[in-house]
Amino acid sequence: MTDILVLNGPNLNLLGSREPDHYGRDTLESINTRLQALAKAGGVSIEFFQSNAEHELVTRVQKAMQDKVAFIVINPAGFTHTSVALRDALAATGIPFIEVHLSNIHAREAFRKHSYFSDLARGVISGLGATGYELALQAAIQQIKAQGK
Ligand code: DQA
Repeated sequence: MTDILVLNGPNLNLLGSREPDHYGRDTLESINTRLQALAKAGGVSIEFFQSNAEHELVTRVQKAMQDKVAFIVINPAGFTHTSVALRDALAATGIPFIEVHLSNIHAREAFRKHSYFSDLARGVISGLGATGYELALQAAIQQIKAQGK
């Protein structure tokens, strides 16, 4: 059983070299290593999944329901602004989630201001770089513990 699933969408496998002015210099691997340590310290189990393919993310969210995942931290990346399918998958599972963006999506192009996820999310963190994932994980751990798990 996994308590927390961290999902990352398209192009986030390129973190470290991808548009560092927007996304910073941390690689996804280094971010996940820090999250793994935080999860361990918080006494929860954690899994990571990144895909560039919408259907793989949808399938992974569906699997999370079977696996009884308690909480999801997700950066849907470009799918934030396009994917009804990924939104529907999260809605179908009912698993609480926090939406994370490295950059401040409200301070960029107009098309990034709309998210298909924010109204369903427990919370949204945008613009704090890699720290956003750590804050989201802390909040997820708190909420899991508050539910007595
Ligand atoms: C992003 C913001 C999105 O607009 C963009 O398409 C991404 C990354 C972020 O983390 O800031 O790929 O989700």
